[in-house]
Amino acid sequence: MKTIDILAVGELNVDLLLNRIAGFPEVGKEIFAQDMTLTLGSSTAIFAANAATLGPRVAFVGMIGRDGFGELVRNSLRERKVDVSCLIEAEGAATGLTAILNYGNDRANVTYPGAMSLMGVKDLDPAVIAQAQHVHISSVFLQEQLHKDLAGIVRLVKRCGATLSMDVQFDPAETWEFDCAAILPYVDVFMPNEQEIMAITGKDSVDAAVEAILPHAHVIVVKMGTKGSLLVTPEGRKQLPATLNENVVDAIGAGDSYDAGFVSAFVRGKSLEECQRIGNLTGAVNTTAAGGTGAFTSLEAVEKAALKHFGQKLGL
Ligand SMILES: Nc1ncnc2c1ncn2[C@@H]1O[C@H](COP(=O)(O)OP(=O)(O)O)[C@@H](O)[C@H]1O
Ligand SMILES: [Mg+2]
Repeated sequence: MKTIDILAVGELNVDLLLNRIAGFPEVGKEIFAQDMTLTLGSSTAIFAANAATLGPRVAFVGMIGRDGFGELVRNSLRERKVDVSCLIEAEGAATGLTAILNYGNDRANVTYPGAMSLMGVKDLDPAVIAQAQHVHISSVFLQEQLHKDLAGIVRLVKRCGATLSMDVQFDPAETWEFDCAAILPYVDVFMPNEQEIMAITGKDSVDAAVEAILPHAHVIVVKMGTKGSLLVTPEGRKQLPATLNENVVDAIGAGDSYDAGFVSAFVRGKSLEECQRIGNLTGAVNTTAAGGTGAFTSLEAVEKAALKHFGQKLGL
C-alpha cells in the first residue's frame, strides 16, 4: 500500500518582496520601501501546496538550510497540508532566497539558490520514493546538482515503481541543456510551456518541438498561456483553448497550478483528456487571485471559483 499520492521533488526558497520603494536602488545609496512581505516562494512549493488543497496526499523532498528561513518553508508547507517529514537539511548551506524589488510595474529579482543547488540523486531515498504512487519533478534548471543528476534520478523513480511527471521551468543560464533521449523515456507526462519546449529542442514552433521529442516521450502537455494547452498522446493531439479569465489578477504560478490540477486528476485515474480539462481550469482559477496559491485556500474555494468564473465543475 502506497502512503503518498504525489511526491513533489524540487526547489524550496523564500521570497522577500520589497514594495513601494522610493526609487530604483542605486549603488552606494540607501532608500526606503514602504511595504515588505516575507513568504514561501518557489514553483515546486506552489505545485505541492495547490495539489494538496485539491485532495491528494502530497509529500515534498527538497533541501533547506538549518535556519529560520528553513523553518518558514517547513511551516508554510505544513499549513497547506503538505507532508514535510522528508525535507532535507543541508550541511553548511542556507535556505535559498529571492529578493524581489517591485518598482512601479517593473521588478528586479536577485536569487541566492543556497541549499536548493545541492540536492542530487544521492539525497533521494529509494524507500521514500517507493511509498509514492506518483513523483513530480520541477524546476530542473534552477537546481544545479539535480540538473546534473537528472537522468539518474528519473531512472531511480521508475525503479521504485512510481509514475513520473516533469515541468522543466525556465533556465536562468539559458543554455537549456536537456538530454531528451536519456530523460524522456522515463517520464510519463512531460509538462513544459511553449517557450520551454522550443528552447530545449532549438525549434521555432511548438509543432516542430513536439515532433523533435516525440520519439523519446510518452505523454506531452504543452502549456500555452491564454491559448490553453496542447495534449499529445500516442493516440493523437488535442488543443484545448483556455477557459479565459478576462480579469486576470496576476499569472504568477499559473503553470504550477495547471500541473497541480492535471497531476491530481492523473493520480485519481482520470482520462488524459479529463486531466487536461482540469489542468486548464486550475491554471485559470490561479489567475483569479494574487500570487501562486491565493486562489487555493481550500478545495471549496477552488470549486466555487471554477463555477463562478468559468461555469465548470472541478470534478476531482
Ligand atoms: N488569462 C488566463 N485565463 C485562463 N487561463 C489561463 C490564463 N493564463 C494561463 N491560463 C492557464 O494556465 C495554464 C498555464 O499557464 P502558462 O502561462 O502557460 O504556464 P507557465 O506559468 O508555466 O508559463 C495555461 O495552459 C492555461 O490553461
Ligand atoms: Mg511554468
